[in-house]
Amino acid sequence: MNSMRLAVPRTALPPRWSALRYHPQQTRLWTEDKRFKVVPAGRRSGKTELAKRKLVASLPVRKKWGDPRYFAAAPTRDQAKRIFWKDLKALAPGRWIRRIYESDLCITTRFGSEVWVVGLDKPQRMEGTPWDGGVLDEYANMKPGAWTENIRPALADRAGWCWFIGVPEGLNHYRDLADYARSGTDGDWGFYTWRSSDILPPEEVEAAKRLLDPRTFRQEFEASFEGSSGRVYYAYRGEVHQVLSAGMDAKLPVVICCDFNVDPCVWELAQTDGREVRVLDEVVMRDTNTVEMCKEVLRRYGGHKAGFIVYGDAAAAARSTAGKSDYALMSELGFKRQSVGRANPAVKDRVNAVNSILCNTNGEARLTHHPRCRYLKRDFETVTWAEGASEIDKRDGDRTHASDALGYFIAAEFALRLKRPSPDRKFYK
Ligand SMILES: Nc1ncnc2c1ncn2[C@@H]1O[C@H](COP(=O)(O)OP(=O)(O)OP(=O)(O)O)[C@@H](O)[C@H]1O
Ligand SMILES: [Mg+2]
Repeated sequence: MNSMRLAVPRTALPPRWSALRYHPQQTRLWTEDKRFKVVPAGRRSGKTELAKRKLVASLPVRKKWGDPRYFAAAPTRDQAKRIFWKDLKALAPGRWIRRIYESDLCITTRFGSEVWVVGLDKPQRMEGTPWDGGVLDEYANMKPGAWTENIRPALADRAGWCWFIGVPEGLNHYRDLADYARSGTDGDWGFYTWRSSDILPPEEVEAAKRLLDPRTFRQEFEASFEGSSGRVYYAYRGEVHQVLSAGMDAKLPVVICCDFNVDPCVWELAQTDGREVRVLDEVVMRDTNTVEMCKEVLRRYGGHKAGFIVYGDAAAAARSTAGKSDYALMSELGFKRQSVGRANPAVKDRVNAVNSILCNTNGEARLTHHPRCRYLKRDFETVTWAEGASEIDKRDGDRTHASDALGYFIAAEFALRLKRPSPDRKFYK
């Protein structure tokens, strides 16, 4: 996996080529002669590292044509750049490089070969020119048609190869491709999978177990394709999570979780010590507006000395009623501390965060709610996935507002940061 396959002495490689520990599946992925390789493996388990090395190792390989071309692709250009660009430059020996095009994210070599970092938010960039091979990272988050419509045709001329890497994301197109590769019916295709625990230190796996519900843990760390039909908040159990508690803690601020539906409008009021969340009250009003909702919060808790923090739907920051966003109105009424992101998290990430705080892999519940939070309880017990299981079923107009509102807060403060680990930070919060 290191220098041998490159037919150059190890000392001639840049230091970025650190030695990797032997791992049977990684070795099979590296050595097996298959044109298409499907690699659903756990988080932080070396998928992208091997893919980067494979791309760089391909650069000196001679072809009948003078300009072998390889791609390093991710769902968006920003993502692709963040994942690949620095490392590809660090892995490619300086002597090989002819030119680096920073704005095109392209490296050309003195062998005539090129490697391009591309985002599939503009799949057209893949079309029109032939490719000798490439890698699709975070494949589960790419559009289902990208492979058949944009990439497969561009690999035809030069019999190019492709790796599909990433963690699973439910029963979607990645799972279909994985099933096809695993079935063994097509000799061009290979299937490779392994768990995070093979690579990660045990204490990091244990930390993830404390933060993730069992289903999310299996998906992210054991590369399991998990179905998500049925209840969205499957980790909820009334006998555990509904708790008659003493009421607001005077020393902690009240977190107001907002969803700006009009009829009904449902806000959840919660408190947290940073580890556990107690949802203590719920404000529900019919055919109402933000000002009326705020007045009701103030009527109940206006004297709360530790103050309030507002969380909620990021989409509402852009919308306006009478020229002002809901959050601007709230600020005018005294709710000045606001923690609303620029964009909402993906629905699945938000739901995973809520399920994970309801019950982690060790069976611990870190969220409770007061029995008077009736809309929240009903959401937890009854909200289901819509057909196709990528969106929540919203047909009942009374449901999902309570759980959405709370979910924005939970996802903002308690989600395990899985998707974009920064190399110089521990990858979990
Ligand atoms: N066999 C191995 N021996 C030693 N270190 C390894 C091995 N495989 C992977 N690593 C290291 O694990 C870290 C994570 O690798 P990488 O970024 O490729 O993971 P990933 O599977 O792509 O993760 P993510 O799902 O978060 O994108 C890297 O620092 C990599 O060098
Ligand atoms: Mg990766």
